[in-house]
This record gives sequence, structure tokens and C-alpha cells, in this order.
Amino acid sequence: MKKTIRDFDLKGKRVLIRVDFNVPLDKNLNVTDDNRIRASLPTIEYALSQGAKVILMSHLGRPEGKPVSSMSLSPATKRLSELLKKEVIQCSDCVGSRVSEELSHLNGVCQVALLENLRFHAAEEKNDAAFAKELAQNGDIYINDAFGSSHRAHASIDGVTKYLPSGAGFLLEKEIQYLGVAMEKPKKPFVAILGGSKVSDKIGMVENLIAKVDKFLIGGAMAYTFLKAQGIEIGSSKYEKDKLDLAKSILEKAKQHKVEIILPVDHIVVQKVDENAASKAEGPGISAGWLGVDIGPKTIELFTKTLDSAKTVIWNGPMGIFEMQSFAKGSYEVTKKLSQLKDATTVIGGGDTAACVIGFGLADKMTHISTGGGASLEYLEGKVLPGIAALQDK
Ligand code: ADP
Ligand code: 3PG
Ligand code: MG
Repeated sequence: MKKTIRDFDLKGKRVLIRVDFNVPLDKNLNVTDDNRIRASLPTIEYALSQGAKVILMSHLGRPEGKPVSSMSLSPATKRLSELLKKEVIQCSDCVGSRVSEELSHLNGVCQVALLENLRFHAAEEKNDAAFAKELAQNGDIYINDAFGSSHRAHASIDGVTKYLPSGAGFLLEKEIQYLGVAMEKPKKPFVAILGGSKVSDKIGMVENLIAKVDKFLIGGAMAYTFLKAQGIEIGSSKYEKDKLDLAKSILEKAKQHKVEIILPVDHIVVQKVDENAASKAEGPGISAGWLGVDIGPKTIELFTKTLDSAKTVIWNGPMGIFEMQSFAKGSYEVTKKLSQLKDATTVIGGGDTAACVIGFGLADKMTHISTGGGASLEYLEGKVLPGIAALQDK
């Protein structure tokens, strides 16, 4: 068991909290999706309620070790300030004497500051010890609440823990709890729904889940590699030629584990990927010149029926090109079914899958939506995340 923020006396302390404010911005640099900022509020508000000064740090984008003005964290500072209804200081950098001076302005009126993008320094991603030590000088206690970045052994995630007492924030704790319960003691039947664009992205997760789940439902472009591996015609649908053998061996392994892999029996197909393109339902095979962009009506029925009795569900990867409304029905129907399940634990992982569920307005009907894309994937692959491993044990 790792220490959590509850294990520390925070009164009068400077709490250095690593958050994941790697949020999307529009061209006017406004935050277009503030879910990651909202998800960090319980930890920030708790620290403030305990009488701490809160110093937040995060990365945004991939500026490759140099300052890039369009990747400043100031839009996140503005949004955080609106959500907290409190002033938040935006620091000019994340280390150095100027930052110490800026942080010295934290007082009874303003108790929250956000350091500038950590990745403006190449040392962050190198997990450089001297840089980690400098970051640590900004606080007395270190809290990791950045689940979405915890698969990165970077200075603000790993190195910094060598220099300060450390523990998990409420978001990190919650992510571990829900993803962990699904992985360790799932109520059965346990169904994993997989989709998205590539088999290669998800292969580690499939291999880890195969010994745990009762059924896999596979949709999205991922399904075409599996269908092709079984000799089914897939027209010009997206698939990975070099993963056909792997798909075959997974299908074989599933048989050995008595795990059912349920693949689409029909598809929504088009001749080109365009929202307004003429489409039709076809399956199980797809005619030459056509490509699959969503699961078809019979597959929706098959998948939703299978989910009826599920007690634990993990979903990673949309069922189709959900960004286009015409091809979002499969993902919507799966979301709707999950929202109606009684007594089931429903866990959503993956950045696009989370966006999809949130976009359908059914987020609050799920047990847990992970704030981590890559991090939730690595967790479901059974990997130990460096950001969790680095924290102090109780
Ligand atoms: P997540 O971020 O949830 O892990 P992925 O990034 O793996 O999900 O996959 C999401 C992407 O997969 C979306 O951009 C979606 O358009 C794409 N996708 C889903 N189905 C198809 C398909 N049939 N053909 C092409 N792309 C697809
Ligand atoms: C994410 O958005 O998945 C995290 O913030 C990590 O970002 P990264 O993939 O650039 O390390
Ligand atoms: Mg994605």
C-alpha cells in the first residue's frame, strides 16, 4: 500500500502536486476539454482545506525540451482559477530563483500556483537527478495526482520522490482502485470491449486480459485484423498485415483459456471515409472497394446482448470512426447499454473512448472513466507504472 495525501499533516506545508493538465487547446488557446483539470480538484481542495500552500506542476504537449509559447500552461491556470473560484499564480518557469520569488507571494489570500510546463526543460523527460532536486525545492511534500502521466519515468513523476516525502492524491488513488479491482477481483462475467484503430496498440492488454476475462467483444478497426486472420474478406478496411499471425495466435490462446472472442458479424461500410458518403450494412465479409467504419446493426445486437449479463466491463477503443456522427452509432449503442447495466462495474480506459462516452453525455452513468490514455493501457497490460512504484509505502 502506498501512502496517500491523507497520511501527511499538511498544515502550513508547501504541497507540490504533480497533476496531468495535458489538456487540448483550440487555436485561441482556450481549454476545450477540462476533465483532467476537474479531476484534480478534490486533491487541491483537500490540501487547501488542511491549510497547505499548493504548488502544481504539469506538462502540456511535447515541446521537446524548449519553451514553446503555444504550450504554456497559462490557459490551464485560467481554467483552474475559474473552477476553484480562487486566484491561481501562473509561474514563469518550473525551477530557479525567479520561481522561488514568485512562490514567495503565496499567502493567506492566494494559496495556489501552477508552475510552467515541465517539458520546456529537456531534463524533465530524461529524469535528470539535478532537475528533480530543483523541482523538489518548490515543496515540502510531494503528491502524485497525475495518473495520466504515471507511465512516464520523468523527473516530476519519479526523480522528485527521491528528495521529498511522497504519496498519492485522490485521483491517482481512485484510478488504481477501479482499474485494480477490475484486474484483480472482477465480478463475473467479466467482459472486455476492445476497439480503436490498431491491434498493435492494444496487443499487450489483450495478452494480459486473456487469463482474466470471460469474453472479448472486438470492434473498431482492430476487428479487421482478426477477421482477415480467419480468412474473412474485409474489402479495403484498415488492418495490420504484419499482425495477422499474432491475431491468429490470440484466437488460438483464447480457445485454450476458454475465453470467447466475439467479432463483428456485420459492418457499416463506405467507399471512402467521408461523413456524407453513401453507406450500407454488410457482413460478415466486406465487398472489394468498401471499407468498414462502424459495427453494423446485427453486431450491435450481439454485443449489447452479451453485455446484458456482465458484472464487470472494461472498455478500451471505440467501435467505429465515432468522430464522424454517421459512424458513431456502434459506440453510442455500447455506451447506452453500459449506462443501463445494473450492479455492474463499468470502467472506461483510453483517451478517445473517454471522449466518446463524455461526448454522448453518459459519463456519470459509468463507474469510472480513466483520465489516462497510455497510462491506463499500460496498467491494463499488467505493467507496474513508475509513478506509482516511486511513491512511499505506508
Ligand atoms: P483510445 O484512445 O480510446 O485508446 P484508440 O486511439 O485506439 O482509442 O482508437 C481511436 C481511434 O480509432 C479513433 O480515432 C477512431 O476513429 C478510430 N477507429 C475506430 N474504428 C475505426 C475503423 N473501423 N476504421 C478506422 N479507424 C477507426
Ligand atoms: C497523456 O495525455 O496521455 C499524458 O498526458 C501523457 O502524455 P505523453 O504521451 O506526451 O507523455
Ligand atoms: Mg487514442
